[in-house]
Amino acid sequence: MNVMDAIQARWSVRTYALRAVEPEKIEAIMEAGRLAPTASNEQKWRLIAVTDPELIAQMVPACKDVAWVGTAPLILVACSEGDRTMVCGQSARTVDCTIGMSYMTLEAIEQGLGFCWLGWFYPEKVCEVLNIPDDFMVVAVATVGYPAREGKRSPKKSTDEVIVYNRMA
Ligand SMILES: Cc1cc2nc3c(=O)[nH]c(=O)nc-3n(C[C@H](O)[C@H](O)[C@H](O)COP(=O)(O)O)c2cc1C
Repeated sequence: MNVMDAIQARWSVRTYALRAVEPEKIEAIMEAGRLAPTASNEQKWRLIAVTDPELIAQMVPACKDVAWVGTAPLILVACSEGDRTMVCGQSARTVDCTIGMSYMTLEAIEQGLGFCWLGWFYPEKVCEVLNIPDDFMVVAVATVGYPAREGKRSPKKSTDEVIVYNRMA
């Protein structure tokens, strides 16, 4: 599967089959994140793979009590140590973790899995469940697993609406 195949195959999976993710697949996912670019190559982050069923159950209340989160056999968390604002005005750590999570989730697709990115989480609760220190910021959370059913991604805006070559009109 090439990168565009993975991008085409992706959709947000919100119910997972009762099937564990093989350890070698999790390793490939985490390696994809480890190799992702970070601002100034600082790598001030931790990329966490949560597979312990007890911790996954505790992640449900940390994710606004969304029940299907608890059906995922794997939850990925990208968190960063401290922060700094780049010249462009953006948080280096937020961008780092977002890229890292994108690499990991695309690798999950290559491994035949599905995922759903989660914005509905309480960072302080995630820190408590996963023993993440106070000086870390939880940026991204995603559920991963084998989809329980088939699905397809939501409609996207047309090329004309979102793609610009050179200057905006
Ligand atoms: C930053 C971000 C946060 C998201 N948060 C949630 C969430 O909390 N719960 C959820 O069910 N889906 C969440 N999603 C998934 C989006 O709803 C989904 O990507 C969007 O509806 C498009 O559908 P598709 O991914 O199938 O193309 C999130 C996606 C992104 C990128």
